[in-house]
Amino acid sequence: MAADKKNTVFYGTFIHSKKLDELEYLHNTAVFVDSNGKILAVERDCDLDNIATTLFPKLGWQAGNVATEKIKDGQFFFPGFIDTHLHASQYPNVGIFGKSTLLDWLNRYTFPLEASLADPAKARAVYTRCIRKTLSHGTTCAAYYATVDVPSTNLLADLCAASGQRALVGRVCMDQLSPAWYRDESPEASVAATRASIAHIRGIDPAMEIVRPVITPRFAPSCSAPLLRMLGELARETGLPVQTHISENVGEIALVKELFPPALTGAADESYAGVYDAFGLLTDKTILAHAVHLSEGEAELIRERGAKVSHCPCSNSAITSGAARVRWLIEKGVVCGLGTDMSGGYSPSVLEAARLAALVSRHVAMGGDEGAKLSVEEVLYLATRGGAEVVGLEKKVGGFEVGKEWDAQLVALGEVDVDGTVKGVEAGEAEDGNVDVFGWESWEERVAKWLFNGDDRNTRKVWVKGRLVHERK
Ligand code: GUN
Ligand code: FE
Repeated sequence: MAADKKNTVFYGTFIHSKKLDELEYLHNTAVFVDSNGKILAVERDCDLDNIATTLFPKLGWQAGNVATEKIKDGQFFFPGFIDTHLHASQYPNVGIFGKSTLLDWLNRYTFPLEASLADPAKARAVYTRCIRKTLSHGTTCAAYYATVDVPSTNLLADLCAASGQRALVGRVCMDQLSPAWYRDESPEASVAATRASIAHIRGIDPAMEIVRPVITPRFAPSCSAPLLRMLGELARETGLPVQTHISENVGEIALVKELFPPALTGAADESYAGVYDAFGLLTDKTILAHAVHLSEGEAELIRERGAKVSHCPCSNSAITSGAARVRWLIEKGVVCGLGTDMSGGYSPSVLEAARLAALVSRHVAMGGDEGAKLSVEEVLYLATRGGAEVVGLEKKVGGFEVGKEWDAQLVALGEVDVDGTVKGVEAGEAEDGNVDVFGWESWEERVAKWLFNGDDRNTRKVWVKGRLVHERK
């Protein structure tokens, strides 16, 4: 057995979602993770000193070959975050969007940046930082859009595999309505390039343990009807997931109506969801980003097909797309997760997306739907278990159960001492101090303080499939 591939017992407090509106708090708990990153056992209310004699034999473990990760009181393990929608290629533009809205934002900020990543050195720098940054914020799994360029897309997949971040990586397909210097030459060329990228990604991770390909029509307006049809056929042929954007902005929706009349698509009506459905792109492996302005009928259709929604509140607020009605979608039975949609969204942090999901839901509530408010527990569910379902990995990640893989983050808040200093910080040293905990807060209150004031300073360690992929020094 390789020296770095040990069995590990993690010990302390574990917090994860039990259901949509309930977190479960497991204290004095041991989680046993084997050398392949799989959770073999979860023992609650146990004594770390005794488990070597009582539990290791049951697992066939020898004490000499087990690493122990015991965390301090007040710290907790939380499942890694799942970012169900972001553009790695747009990372340099975080925060740069001015007063734009979607269609002018694409032309002014986004297409020039994405096209420039055909330069491999630039792509390497951007993707390397994007992966490091998202890992540092606790993102253990990301559904990435790369660019139109095949080598640039393949490089993103290589870097995810090397850094150990779980990822779906998609080459962006688009053959119309963008400048000639940033689009596929024909539907056939788009599909051929997509196949080449799929083959590369399968080559680096044949068992799809960490990285997998995803078919990525940018959004309906960027794709001709023949291209959408061919990508729908490719999805059926390969069984691969699909990711795209839907119903983000009112101008975009008007454009889809104009470009895809029922006479062209053969759909029963002129709805946006109906366009994807007509081309075989609305399946139970489809991730639809935004879904802000859906009609009742579209939400029904999405539920029927089993397609999933990536809610992107940071982006929807920044580029003024609208306030998605998440409660309404959930009550309709549509599976939802969270996306940063960087750089439509200004932040690479899923915790920020969760915080904004809570706030945007309050704006929906202030618009008259009191029941729309999402709780702390609900947005953290969306950030973990909901996201896992959206990307089709709910059997592998999202919580701490036997059989799942160890994708986790260690969270530490600032524990304030009686003299008002933060414990563990020596005199004269800088304090992080972004979340102060005084010791009287309940665990529910600690988690609420983390959600609303926390950031990457609180994310001390991050693991994917048992491998330590980030440590804050
Ligand atoms: N619609 C089509 N492309 C994009 C994109 O890159 N970001 C967002 N937010 N919406 C899109
Ligand atoms: Fe997007």
